[in-house]
Amino acid sequence: MYLIKLISGFVVIFYLKNLTESAECDSKRLLFNDPQSIQTLLAQYETKLNSYETKLQSQGSMIQKLQDKMTAKESTIKQLQDKISAIENDSVSAGSSTYVRWGRKTCVNDNYTELVYDGNAGGSYYNYPGSGVDYLCLPHNPDSPIPESKLLSTSKLSSGLLYGSEYQMNFNNIRYDDVVPCAVCRVQASVLMIPGKSTCPTDWKIQYNGILSSSYYNYPGASNFVCLDGNPEYIAGTRSHNDDGKLFFHVRTRCGSLECPPYVNDTIVPCVVCAK
Ligand SMILES: *[C@@H]1O[C@H](CO)[C@@H](O)[C@H](O)[C@H]1NC(C)=O
Ligand SMILES: *[C@@H]1O[C@H](CO)[C@@H](O)[C@H](O)[C@H]1NC(C)=O
Ligand SMILES: *[C@@H]1O[C@H](CO)[C@@H](O)[C@H](O)[C@H]1NC(C)=O
Repeated sequence: MYLIKLISGFVVIFYLKNLTESAECDSKRLLFNDPQSIQTLLAQYETKLNSYETKLQSQGSMIQKLQDKMTAKESTIKQLQDKISAIENDSVSAGSSTYVRWGRKTCVNDNYTELVYDGNAGGSYYNYPGSGVDYLCLPHNPDSPIPESKLLSTSKLSSGLLYGSEYQMNFNNIRYDDVVPCAVCRVQASVLMIPGKSTCPTDWKIQYNGILSSSYYNYPGASNFVCLDGNPEYIAGTRSHNDDGKLFFHVRTRCGSLECPPYVNDTIVPCVVCAK
């Protein structure tokens, strides 16, 4: 070991010698010819080499530590990526909900929303006080009816009644008595219908907007309020054919208990469906 250091010391000396030859030629030569000076120099170089060795060792261990840290970080990133992809995959149960897009056969076209089914809007009869209140989205492919034999000695008239739906307005592409389609949409978010708005709150994404709808204010059959798409469709072959059923009317404001302004009396109410 000492021999190697000695030899490399000489190599360094010769290298330095060549470098400095032109500058301080004479004095250096004097020094190198003096055995005492060479001893001193060698000792100095040995010390330096030792310190370089120590430095190299500590740098090497630092690099090793950094590599270890990087490996740990890489595995953390991999775990997070897996978690993200699992969350993305598992959107069936995690933070998803459904809503009905009234008046349309399709859902909004983005990567977060999918059509569950489309159907024919329906509900109770507009002029009957009973049965259900809410609008239903009835699928186009219903399963078999429950056999009559299962209702034991029950009168057929002891029942609610289910009808389809018609528009009671001429609005954009739809006319009075056209049949109302609907689409059940699933979105990876929570969903909110806001009456009186056409736009969504900050950070919410619009699913659709349109015109607030309900049954007629003075018919016996009430309904819930729903948001009818602003660009509604109708079911082919039903144009202006009057069968009644559950009806879609537009909704107008009445000031008083309703704050005006900001609301304006006797105006058509917009609505929006938002997701976040
Ligand atoms: C998520 O789904 C993709 C494609 O369906 C699949 O390749 C991946 O392994 C799934 N990831 C997890 C964590 O389930
Ligand atoms: C849906 O996702 C794809 C790929 O991730 C992207 O290229 C596209 O722009 C997205 N579409 C919408 C409507 O966000
Ligand atoms: C709102 O408009 C309706 C219909 O025009 C009217 O009957 C009612 O009196 C108005 N209400 C107010 C507070 O202006």
